[in-house]
Amino acid sequence: MSNNKNIPGPGLLKSLGYLLQMVGGDRGAVYRELFEKYGDIVSLRGPIKIAFLFHPEYVGHVLKENFLNYKKSISYKEFYPLIGQGLVTSEGKLWRTQRTLVRKDFRPQAIHAYIAEMDKITKELINEIESQLADRDKYDVNLIDMLGLHTYKIICRCLFNLEVGERELQLQKHALGLERYTTKRIFSILKWPLWVPTIANLKLKKSLKIVNKVVGDIIEHAKEDLDQSSPFLRRLILSGIDQQQIRDEIVTFLIAGHETTSNALAWTINLLATNPEVQQKLIDQVADNYSGESLDIISLQKMSYVRNVVSESMRILPPVPFLSRQNINSDVIGGYKINKETIVICAQAITHLDERFHKDAKQFNPDRFNLEMVKYSYFPFAEGPRKCIGEDFAIQEMMIFLIGFFQKFTVKLQDKFTPIPAIYITMKPKNGMLVSISSRN
Ligand code: HEM
Repeated sequence: MSNNKNIPGPGLLKSLGYLLQMVGGDRGAVYRELFEKYGDIVSLRGPIKIAFLFHPEYVGHVLKENFLNYKKSISYKEFYPLIGQGLVTSEGKLWRTQRTLVRKDFRPQAIHAYIAEMDKITKELINEIESQLADRDKYDVNLIDMLGLHTYKIICRCLFNLEVGERELQLQKHALGLERYTTKRIFSILKWPLWVPTIANLKLKKSLKIVNKVVGDIIEHAKEDLDQSSPFLRRLILSGIDQQQIRDEIVTFLIAGHETTSNALAWTINLLATNPEVQQKLIDQVADNYSGESLDIISLQKMSYVRNVVSESMRILPPVPFLSRQNINSDVIGGYKINKETIVICAQAITHLDERFHKDAKQFNPDRFNLEMVKYSYFPFAEGPRKCIGEDFAIQEMMIFLIGFFQKFTVKLQDKFTPIPAIYITMKPKNGMLVSISSRN
């Protein structure tokens, strides 16, 4: 007979209430309430087998120690029309082969080689902001739009050797539209199959057609002129994988490679705008180490406070607020039995703010990253073999932006504006990120 304990959690009716509340949109509040009422591990009763794992040890168990027993949860299947079997959604042998194939473009040397391009694109944006400030004291802007384009330009240049023109803008618009649609579907109760001609499904088909056409052109063009295409595209094309798989990887990296980073940067600037003493400390470090010349890895490494600001921002407002997996065989975690095929949720949005592991957890204090942290209590990029492949790329890109930006400007939130975090697959401000930028001198 097994001695495993039952997972704590609400009864059937309350569980259904929580599920409805999650579908309705307020996932962050549900996760917090479950954690506060029931603790480190919670399960809901009802039609879906679902367990929340908030303790770092449990997170480490699922994402790393016993990762072979955990596949991505069923919700990821909703992304198939958009990203197919790209690196985010593929499993098993296909995932392993693809990860090995593209790993070369994310080794430290490759990441450092992107510095010049990231720096150039950042300087272009800074020049634009400066010209906006030529005849006024402050420039009011929605950072979500500004940074969405900025990070898209970076991924297009660095990974695909593409300039962003009208065609690429169409690709971004339709790919992000499809991502939004898919995310909505994941959280809705009533899902029409994609073949039913609802207005939303017809729109989806139209967008997919545009995405496929543009990506098809990009592949054809790269094949015709392999010498001029990027190492990433060349590698995909020469690997012998079929056209569909190349397409899936391109769309995967275009989306995963820019949207999360732009949200992360917008949240970072929000935290700096509302914590002027941290903003000042960052400005001081930039002033002491940088006078506008081209950046290189040595100068980036010197600015450890800037890096800590990025890390701390992703602790308080994790751009990916939760991850979901499903166990292949039943498992035991912390003495609790997890039945086979249970959806398990690990929530950065809760574990990152747990006072037991992060003292004064709500305080924006980048210096905490000078101290060691409890293992798996901080995992903005996930953990284990399926950890984000773009982690160093994203951190470098964010640091370069913050260094360039705060060498010239200061920032405040616009009057009476408070961003409202919305937890979908990523954490985004529902109402944009409205800031006022001013010159430092
Ligand atoms: C601040 C920015 C970013 C954050 C917070 C972030 C976070 C994450 C997380 C949490 C995962 C795991 C998802 C899961 O297991 O369900 C992931 C996976 C992934 N990310 Fe990122 N990411 C960021 C930027 C990037 C960038 C810049 C790229 C590409 C250039 C990228 C490409 C990927 C890919 C391809 C995967 C799937 C990896 C695999 O399963 O092997 N991400 N990311």
